Amino acid sequence: MPEAGPGLDLLTWGLPRLRDLPWRRSRDPWEILVSEVMLQQTQTGRVIPKWIAFLEAFPTPEACAAAPLGDVLRLWQGLGYPRRARNLHTAASVITDELGGVFPSTLPDLLRLPGVGPYTARAVLAFAFETDVAIVDTNVARVLARCAGTRLTPKTVQALADSWLPPGESWAWNQVMLDLGATACRPAVPACAECPIAATCAWRGVGPDPAVGSAGVSTSQTRFEGSDRQVRGRLLAALGSGPVRVTDLARAAGLPADPERAQRLMIALVGEGLAVGSADVYLLP
Ligand code: ADE
Repeated sequence: MPEAGPGLDLLTWGLPRLRDLPWRRSRDPWEILVSEVMLQQTQTGRVIPKWIAFLEAFPTPEACAAAPLGDVLRLWQGLGYPRRARNLHTAASVITDELGGVFPSTLPDLLRLPGVGPYTARAVLAFAFETDVAIVDTNVARVLARCAGTRLTPKTVQALADSWLPPGESWAWNQVMLDLGATACRPAVPACAECPIAATCAWRGVGPDPAVGSAGVSTSQTRFEGSDRQVRGRLLAALGSGPVRVTDLARAAGLPADPERAQRLMIALVGEGLAVGSADVYLLP
């Protein structure tokens, strides 16, 4: 496994090519956290307008914590995986009420926030506080496994990422690594001929891809059309426009012939705190 990584040459290649993404102009930890939570499962292009609208409504954790969860869920519409919105709302309350409005700035403190795992915590440290940590998302995990030429474990992938990080360059290094994974070192058709670190890559596109099944590399999302995820999205969208009567559930869910499924999915939303039921209507919390 390589010890020293590609080094500063990768920055020389990557910095002028960095995608111009709005959160890259911010060092505000709340703004960075919101971007990273949105980017966990949603593509960059869909995140940009949602991130802007979300921060217009909730420019600080205090503003978010003061709003009902329903308002946060309304702004989340179209991003999917709404538990992320609920966790963000809870995290905003923790920062406001338990931490006196002081944003956590160490790994263990960030990991205590709901919905914040090792990737997101390190992303906030690197992109808001410019702390020397190496982040491993699916894109970076793919780059590292391919360079190593072998499947990695959660420990070895983080250790390799750490060993590559040039001290003092955390912000730039991590952004360039993310973009390398999102552009040249793509999942299906990597552009190895354009890759700035091909010389140090053990794989270079020949033979089985070591990234498949390697730690931190996600498998593709399950089909959306016809999925529970799609129906849940419809139910939340309907609730976003106002209370939904029990007798209207199947129609709101787009399942006129399957009221039982509509009811089951709505009950699950209530169980997760994403909707509330009262008498014969459901509404946003
Ligand atoms: N995915 C996760 N974090 C990102 C970032 N800061 N820029 C681009 N894509 C990302």
